[in-house]
Amino acid sequence: MKHSSSDKLWQGRSSGDVADITVEIGQSIDLDIQLYREDIQGSRAHARMLEKIGILKREELDQILEGLTQVEGEIAAGQMTLRWELEDIHTHVENRLLELIGDPARKLHTARSRNDQVAVDTHLFVKKKAAALRFEILDLCRDLLAQAEKNIDITIPAYTHLQVAQPARLAHPLMAHFWSFFRDAERLQFALQQADRLPLGSGACLGVNYDTDREFLREELKFAAIYENSMDAVASRDHILNLLYAISVFGLHASRIAEEIILWCSVEFSFLKLPDSVTTGSSIMPQKKNPDLAELIRGKTGRLNGNLVNMMTAVKGLPLAYNRDLQEDRQPLLDSTYQAQLIVRSLRAMVQGMEFQDRNMQQSLEKGYATATDLADALVWEKQVPFREAHHAVGKLVAICEQNGHSLTSIPTSERSQAHPAFSDDAFYRRAVDPATSADRKRSQGGTAKSRIQEQFALARRKLEEAG
Ligand code: ARG
Repeated sequence: MKHSSSDKLWQGRSSGDVADITVEIGQSIDLDIQLYREDIQGSRAHARMLEKIGILKREELDQILEGLTQVEGEIAAGQMTLRWELEDIHTHVENRLLELIGDPARKLHTARSRNDQVAVDTHLFVKKKAAALRFEILDLCRDLLAQAEKNIDITIPAYTHLQVAQPARLAHPLMAHFWSFFRDAERLQFALQQADRLPLGSGACLGVNYDTDREFLREELKFAAIYENSMDAVASRDHILNLLYAISVFGLHASRIAEEIILWCSVEFSFLKLPDSVTTGSSIMPQKKNPDLAELIRGKTGRLNGNLVNMMTAVKGLPLAYNRDLQEDRQPLLDSTYQAQLIVRSLRAMVQGMEFQDRNMQQSLEKGYATATDLADALVWEKQVPFREAHHAVGKLVAICEQNGHSLTSIPTSERSQAHPAFSDDAFYRRAVDPATSADRKRSQGGTAKSRIQEQFALARRKLEEAG
């Protein structure tokens, strides 16, 4: 099929037909239809500005505004037919406006280029998505805080090298995730602030031959500032890069808690149960309850990072100012924002439904000799044993436990005194190997002692309040 050049809004110069491949590779409407609200918002502001500086008459402005409202309603209702030969959202809106109101629509593109139009659309979109995602991540932080507060008295092994290390309060790893997500919210705030600059009014790249009022546009569209340089405004995509980066890091953080959820739900760990609503069964194995949401979150990090690299590579080495390569921004932007929303909502559903299996955590603490370090330290403080000797004695004790199938708490007094005579002091020994007591000994700032965790809760609540 050939497309007549008269379909095109830029038809003036070319006379020949346009090849199918030109149309197919050139279209972005299949994706940027999703930017229709921003596109129409930008057009409304631009039309008002044109009326203010005398390019549109009052009645023409009214017709354009009314027409734009109708176009918006039609797109929202799914009534707009997408035509590749009309390329992008800007042309679709303008073309439909022309059908609806006729001549005044022809004036709307005065002092404007699609280059600054697409830039303003994506800036508005980035601001909207960064703000929305930030709020959802803050809600996820609230969910984590609620679980941490509710389970303050449960102890769980902390791991290094995925080997049992020391007893932690369960609230501690939960709050560790809290803080990394809280920083994601901060990164989104930064992305939002950087996108808060108006590119509209830059024209194709050097400004326009009209005495436009960009300050008016800035106010209408609620931007904090105006791009200082029109070439930069149409050529840069760091508003998108900032958002993609913030989302990628969020995705990495999400994949880490997802991995822990997967491990903790396994029979081997059995630390956690998820509600049926966020797990799936197997089509063949009747006993299965799979943490699919967590696996999908873990799997999605690849595409989020891919989207970031995709955009960075598209921008690399591009000469100023606008180049058509930049149209490739739509796919990573739309995909990452949507995926991030799926991730945060899935995480919230899982975190809200978490049921912890306290007994199994205690068993792992025992099996992993989690308080071995505490016992060595207790020998140093209370029995004045040099640390090297203490380390050796506890090592020997663990070997005896392993040989005879005991844990540090179950080993009889007679057997443990073989490792060190001081271990026959029952009161001393029991205090030293108790997991909750061990956790509360970690009282340095940011540590796992109950009082320090409670400090974290207070700080977290304050930060959440400030964040809004
Ligand atoms: N479809 C383009 C985009 O979305 C609009 C700008 C095209 N500019 C041009 N001179 N062809 O990025």
